[in-house]
Amino acid sequence: MAQQEDVFKKIVSHAKEYGFVFPSSEIYDGLGAVYDYGQNGVELKNNIKRYWWDSMTMLHENIVGIDSAIFMHPTIWKASGHVDAFNDPLIDNKDSKKRYRADVLIEEEIAKFDDKIEKEVAKAKKRFGESFDEALFRETNPRIQEIVAKRDALHERFANAMNNNDLNELRQIIIDQEIVDPISGTRNWTDVRQFNLMFKTEMGSTADGAMGVYLRPETAQGIFVNYLNVQKTGRMRIPFGIAQIGKAFRNEIVARQFIFRMREFEQMEMQFFVRPGTELEWFKQWKETRLRWHKALGLGDQKYRYHDHEKLAHYANAATDIEFEMPFGFKEVEGIHSRTNFDLSQHEKFSGKNIKYFDPELNESYVPYVIETSIGVDRMFLSVLCSSYEEQPLENGETRVVLHLPAPLAPTKCAVMPLVRKDGLPEKAREIVNSLKFDFATRYDEKDSIGKRYRRQDAVGTPFCITVDHQTLEDNTVTLRERDSMEQTRVNIDDLNALIHDRVSINALLRKLS
Ligand code: GAP
Repeated sequence: MAQQEDVFKKIVSHAKEYGFVFPSSEIYDGLGAVYDYGQNGVELKNNIKRYWWDSMTMLHENIVGIDSAIFMHPTIWKASGHVDAFNDPLIDNKDSKKRYRADVLIEEEIAKFDDKIEKEVAKAKKRFGESFDEALFRETNPRIQEIVAKRDALHERFANAMNNNDLNELRQIIIDQEIVDPISGTRNWTDVRQFNLMFKTEMGSTADGAMGVYLRPETAQGIFVNYLNVQKTGRMRIPFGIAQIGKAFRNEIVARQFIFRMREFEQMEMQFFVRPGTELEWFKQWKETRLRWHKALGLGDQKYRYHDHEKLAHYANAATDIEFEMPFGFKEVEGIHSRTNFDLSQHEKFSGKNIKYFDPELNESYVPYVIETSIGVDRMFLSVLCSSYEEQPLENGETRVVLHLPAPLAPTKCAVMPLVRKDGLPEKAREIVNSLKFDFATRYDEKDSIGKRYRRQDAVGTPFCITVDHQTLEDNTVTLRERDSMEQTRVNIDDLNALIHDRVSINALLRKLS
């Protein structure tokens, strides 16, 4: 685990050193859980967004996109339940003056039981060696049974407190479990209070005319309130979907793990409107479709798993997360939710407008049911970055740092390098850049030794390097070096475009999906 934490630290500093992600407002000592994307980061992020957008709007003839405003009428957030219920339960330690999420403190306590179990298993494995039957040991060992019973009892008590919104009980659990503040080491806790995660600001210039508005905490509501505009102007028939990519804002209390939990982040959401009664069939279909989208990137099928929700939000009748194995464990990257007709019905109620869909096949009007797929761009970025990073030992004893980014997502697709800065090689290299740049993100690089230049491109995940040497001037061929295998082949300049295109185009990824 400690080793994984070290790797994660290295990834974070690599992201900064190579222009992927910078802490926001760094020269002013940063701003908590807010980050900026640098010259390479923005390209990788844009490519992720392009892959998602095209997979939604180009591969499905019944899905279209929109781009709604971040500011929305404040009543929308009352209708959606965010004003009353988009809360985290907080507790303060009176000695350290630090604030924590009460639910997270308890979840961490529950996780300690799991750690204890794993330690017992590891100890027994060592003791019994080859003959060890792990499954039997887990099922029958009295010590393990005792820990499991304690864990399950705590879990049940915690789940009940959360379901009943019982803040006193949450505090009591923290007291009974003797949970201490990691900073002060004391158990001097305040009461638990609810804290709303939405950022609020004012719209309008005069003090009495100003209206309190929120920065949206999800992009989905912009889709809900526009669904009938899109349906009517686009002559859409159910089932149909609306996709959107945009910023969302949450005043996260425990903001940790780099860009995993941010206060300003980006979502890619798609709401799929269906006939009531068909939603669970569509839910199943979207679960599969979305996992296929992830796996097509080739980051490793074993790195994904579903986490089906047992405790459902009051408006949902099915929900699952797609989790990805980050260096700090399996974590949610995407949520797929069957949201029933909750949001649309609420907007109908709060706006007083009829927003029913008229179904010409059934000759009746109804409020559609909705399946939502919701993925965080930044979490997707983090999963791609973490799984691509490698410190690879080489045969000559050196180590290279390489990002094995899926080629269609790489910020730069190819770098063109003259072997030396004379004899007309730079001019020839620039000629190649000028012919490739219309199709691919192409860079010219002539500084330092060729080995250093290769390493520089490996570190930012460039799939191809093209080297121009003296032979190029004679026979119009160059060396094409592939990032992962480091294999070099001699190819004709006229063939470069086709060779690169096959590997780096987003189309190739999209084809895997259909
Ligand atoms: N409309 C549904 C919705 O917003 P969510 O599970 O709260 O559902 C969806 O968020 C996705 O947005 C998550 O799976 C995650 O990838 C991303 N996300 C949520 N909060 C985030 C945060 N604070 N920082 C980065 N990404 C976040």
